Amino acid sequence: MDYKKLLESIDSIDPMAGTIEYLMANYGQPRDAFVRGDGSYLFRGDGSRVLDFLSGIAVTSLGHGYPDVVEAITNQAKKLMHTSNFFANENGPKVAYLLNQLISSSTPTQESGKVFFSNSGAEAMEAAIKLARKRQGGDRYKFITINGAFHGRTFGALSATAQPGKKEAFEPVVPGFNHVTSGDIEGVEKLIGAGGVGAVIIESIQGESGVRPLDGEFVRALRRVTSETDTLLILDEVQTGLGRCGRWFDFSHHEIAPDIVVMAKALGSGFPIGATWARVGVAEAFVAGDHGTTYGGNPLATASALATLTAMIKIDAPKRAYDLGIDLVKRLASLDNVGEVRGRGLLLGVELEGVEAPAVAKYALDGGLIVNPIGSSTVRLAPPLTVSIDEIDEAVRILTDAIKMAS
Ligand SMILES: Cc1ncc(COP(=O)(O)O)c(C=O)c1O
Repeated sequence: MDYKKLLESIDSIDPMAGTIEYLMANYGQPRDAFVRGDGSYLFRGDGSRVLDFLSGIAVTSLGHGYPDVVEAITNQAKKLMHTSNFFANENGPKVAYLLNQLISSSTPTQESGKVFFSNSGAEAMEAAIKLARKRQGGDRYKFITINGAFHGRTFGALSATAQPGKKEAFEPVVPGFNHVTSGDIEGVEKLIGAGGVGAVIIESIQGESGVRPLDGEFVRALRRVTSETDTLLILDEVQTGLGRCGRWFDFSHHEIAPDIVVMAKALGSGFPIGATWARVGVAEAFVAGDHGTTYGGNPLATASALATLTAMIKIDAPKRAYDLGIDLVKRLASLDNVGEVRGRGLLLGVELEGVEAPAVAKYALDGGLIVNPIGSSTVRLAPPLTVSIDEIDEAVRILTDAIKMAS
């Protein structure tokens, strides 16, 4: 092989055409391609820009290129990127400490816990599933999750995911996962009463199935029923967590204390990192050798997470999300062809009436705004928590035009 020619040929690969030619087709046709990000904007190769009201699916909560995060990653990359988990690093314990402070202060019990680091939401969920199985023992191997839930694509997380379309092609999935309808507390009691259930897994707002909040009474009833039976309650805060929904964690709107909290997405501002927190009394179930990952919690990933959390604390990201969310909901709800606006803070699902969500999202992108269609009637908005009022004005203007064009 002519190595010189091989390396020269890379330059001619176009992002859009190259994606179709060289990558597997699982994401479908890419909708656009971007080469740079700055704050709430993404830039194409030709210099044109679009407002990013999806944030890489609730990941870039500080916007693109947040200076403190960029600096932390750059400095850490120069210093030390990876060692393996045989060795401690200076950032990991600091991130775990901050997460523990933020989680325990979000609960009525203020209980403390410990953290396991991984590389994604699905991996953080896998760790939660394995931890629950180990803690509860083999005769309590079953889980209950809620219809419509999305918990990730790896086999354990996929088995917890209660969306048949995502699983059918991969059956049989992991045994022991039962699904109930949101609000069906009797169904949960019945399953727990029948025996063998070790944990219940919920998203307090179901993000991927259209930004659908669980009813607060149901969430509190779940906590009561699980506590009474020493069944673990696992909160998947991968999408809702870290300030996005107007509190550090969305579960705290319901005044409950989870046993396990699963996080990822915004934690690294785009650098891959997942985290699984478990309260004292559950976390100890993992002992040396029980679980692991090569990269999880490495110096670079945790440098990114440390800078992200520090910046979020300094700007009081949950308060920004709360205040801006109240304003944005009002403005969205007043638009033509808009019915219900669901969600909390800056994770919102806009229910469209008489127009198709994919068409609205397409016209919005053409007009300079990224929103995400979910199904035929919902668009999801998850702008950065650093978004400005002017940018919200611009987004609402573009969305209004897009809805007009689609109707
Ligand atoms: C609630 C929830 N859990 C888990 C996941 C899986 O995370 P990841 O895609 O990082 O594996 C997602 C991703 O969208 C999610 O929204």
